[in-house]
Amino acid sequence: MSERILGIETSCDETGVAIYDSERGLLAERLFSQIALHKVYGGVIPELASRDHVAKLLPLIDEVLNDANLRLSDLTAISFTEGPGLVGALMVGAATAKSLGLALNIPVMGIHHMEGHLLAPLLEDNPPNFPFVALLVSGGHTQLILAKALGEYELLGDTLDDAAGEAFDKTAKILSLPYPGGPEIAKLAQSGNPDRFVFPLPMINRPGCDFSFSGLKTFTATLVNSFEKLTEQDRADVAAGFEMAVAKTLSKKCERALKQTGCSQLVIAGGVSANLRLRDVLSVMVDKQQASLFYARPSLCTDNGAMIAFAGFLRRKIMSEKPPLAIQVKPRWPMNLLSNQT
Ligand code: KG4
Ligand code: ZN
Repeated sequence: MSERILGIETSCDETGVAIYDSERGLLAERLFSQIALHKVYGGVIPELASRDHVAKLLPLIDEVLNDANLRLSDLTAISFTEGPGLVGALMVGAATAKSLGLALNIPVMGIHHMEGHLLAPLLEDNPPNFPFVALLVSGGHTQLILAKALGEYELLGDTLDDAAGEAFDKTAKILSLPYPGGPEIAKLAQSGNPDRFVFPLPMINRPGCDFSFSGLKTFTATLVNSFEKLTEQDRADVAAGFEMAVAKTLSKKCERALKQTGCSQLVIAGGVSANLRLRDVLSVMVDKQQASLFYARPSLCTDNGAMIAFAGFLRRKIMSEKPPLAIQVKPRWPMNLLSNQT
C-alpha cells in the first residue's frame, strides 16, 4: 500500500512543510522563511520564531494538501523535527504533528533535524548508498559522520567551537553584511581574490577529524580592523579568502575521513553545503581520491520540510512499534544516540 507522509520542520527560523509519497516521490513542499522578521536583530530571536511558526504552520499544511490534491484523511503518517533546535519552535511542530496524528489515528514520528539534512541528498537522482561519509555543515553543526546504515551514525569529527555556518554568519557581521551571512559572503566573494590575504587553515595539521572555526573569525576581525577604510574590493577579497579557508579546511578533514573509513562516497548536507566554492574544492579532492561527491539542490540544503517528510518515509520502513503520544522535543540531541529502530 502506498504511503503519504506529511513532514513538518520548525526547529529554527523556517516553517517547512512537505508531503512525500512512497510511489510518486515528493508531491508538494512549502517553506516560509522568517529571515525578514529576524534580520533587524542580526540573528534569530527564539520567541518571535515560535510565534511565527504558530501563525504559519496550519496555513502551510493546507497549502501542501491543496498542491498535492489530497485531503488530511489521505495521509498515512506524519513526521516532525523533534530536535535539536529552539525549544519553543520545536514545540509548535511537535504539538501540531501529534494533535493531527491523534485526530487522524496515524503514526507520528519525531525526526532528528541533522538526520533530515543527512538524508536530503538521497532525494536526488543517482543517490549514494550506505555506507558513506557525511559532512554536515549547518548554522549549529559541523560534523563528520560515518553513515553505516539508516539510523547508524558514528561521529568521526565535530567542531570544538563555532559551526561552519555560524562562522559565516559572524564573519558576515564583521563585514557589515546582513543575516544570514553565508549566502551574503558567497555573493561578495564572487568578485574577490581568495589569495590576496593569507588566512590560517585551522586545525589542518592536527590529527583527527575535528574542526575549529573561531580563530578564523578572530583573524578576519583583526584583518578588517587593520584597515583605515575598507574599499568594496578589500571587502570582497576578505570574503573570498575566508570562504576559501573554510572550504580548504573542510576538504582536508573530509579527505582524512574518507581515507580513515575506506569509503568512496562523500555526502555533504546542511545550509553551508549550498556553497559553490565548497562544492568546487571538494569535487577536486574527491576526484583525486577516486571517490564521488553527493549533494542536494540548494533548496534542500537549507532547512525544509521535504527532508523531514523523506526521513519519516525511510524511518517508517524500519519502525517496529507505534511512537508514544506524549508531546516531547529534544533541543539537544547527539546524533550518534539515534537508533535504527524508532
Ligand atoms: O541547515 P541550515 O539551513 O540551518 C541550520 O540547521 O542551522 O543552515 C543555515 C546556515 C547559516 O549559517 C547560513 O549562513 C549557512 O547555512 N548558509 C551558507 C550558504 N547558504 C546558507 N553558508 C555558506 N554559503 C552558502 N551559500
Ligand atoms: Zn538545518
